[in-house]
Amino acid sequence: MTINIIDVAYTRLKTPDFAVAADFATRILGLELFDRASDRLTFRSDYRMSTLSYEIGDPFETIVGFELENGEHLQNAANTLQALGYEVRSGTHEEREQRHVSDFITFRDPSGGRVEFAVSPQIGGKSAQLTRDAGITGFSHVGLFSRDPVGDEHFWTQLCNARVSDRVGGLPLMRFSQLHHSIALVPANRCGIQHINHQVQSIDDVLRSYSLLRQHKIPIVFGPGRHPTSGARFVYFEGPDGMVFEYSVGVQEVDEETYRERQFAFEPKSLCMWGALPAMKELSS
Ligand SMILES: [Fe+2]
Repeated sequence: MTINIIDVAYTRLKTPDFAVAADFATRILGLELFDRASDRLTFRSDYRMSTLSYEIGDPFETIVGFELENGEHLQNAANTLQALGYEVRSGTHEEREQRHVSDFITFRDPSGGRVEFAVSPQIGGKSAQLTRDAGITGFSHVGLFSRDPVGDEHFWTQLCNARVSDRVGGLPLMRFSQLHHSIALVPANRCGIQHINHQVQSIDDVLRSYSLLRQHKIPIVFGPGRHPTSGARFVYFEGPDGMVFEYSVGVQEVDEETYRERQFAFEPKSLCMWGALPAMKELSS
C-alpha cells in the first residue's frame, strides 16, 4: 500500500551551541522563537506551531518530518515499513508534544537519514510573528543527502507517493502535490538534511535578505539566482553547523494531467539560468 505523504512538515536539527542557533534563526533567518526550553528551541515560520527546532547534540543527526492524512494512514505506513524490514518506533507522549503533532513514527531512510511521519501538525490561531521583515510565507521543502540515490528514490516514489518533476543529472526533484518539489535528493557521501527552504513573498524579499546576509557576513553559497527547473528565484546561505538555508519565491505548480518529467544536464546553467555558481561541493560540477 502506497504511503500517501501530504507535505513536508518540520525539520529538527541538533547543535552544540543554542545561543548561536537562536540568534541565527531569529535575527538572520527571521523566524519566531516560539518556545525556549532548557533542552530545545522551537521556531515558527507559518501557520503551523513548529516547523524548525534545535536540540543540543550532533549536527549530523537531522530529522525531517512529513505529514500523513490520519492515524489509519500512519498505522498502515508503520506496517508497510516494518514488513519491509525498517526499524520503526512510535513517538512518545513527550516527543509528540515537542513536535506539536498528535502522533508520529520514526525510522531511517535507505541512506540512514532520520525521517518521521506525523499526523495533525497543530496550527496556530495566528500565523508566525516573524522577527524581521524577511517576507517568509512558510517552510516549503528540503534537500536530502543521499548515499543511496537508487534506494532513496525508490523509497520516496515507490513506497511513498512522490513523483519526479525534474532531474538535474542524477539529482531528482520530487513533489507530493502540484508544487514542483518538496524534496531534492542530493547524491553525497552522507545522509540527512542538505538544505532547508523557506518561501518568501517576492523577489524583493530575496534581495533584501541577500543584502542583510552580506552585511552580517553570512556565507552565501548560491545565488541570487533562478532555477530553470522550478522557475524559483533564490538565495542559499549557510547557517550554524554548516546547514544550508534557502529563501525562494515563485516555485511553479505543475499540472498533474499533462506534466512530464524532464532531464536536465548536470551543468551550472541547469541549476541557475542567471549564471550563479553553487559553492556547495555536492552541487558543483
Ligand atoms: Fe531548494
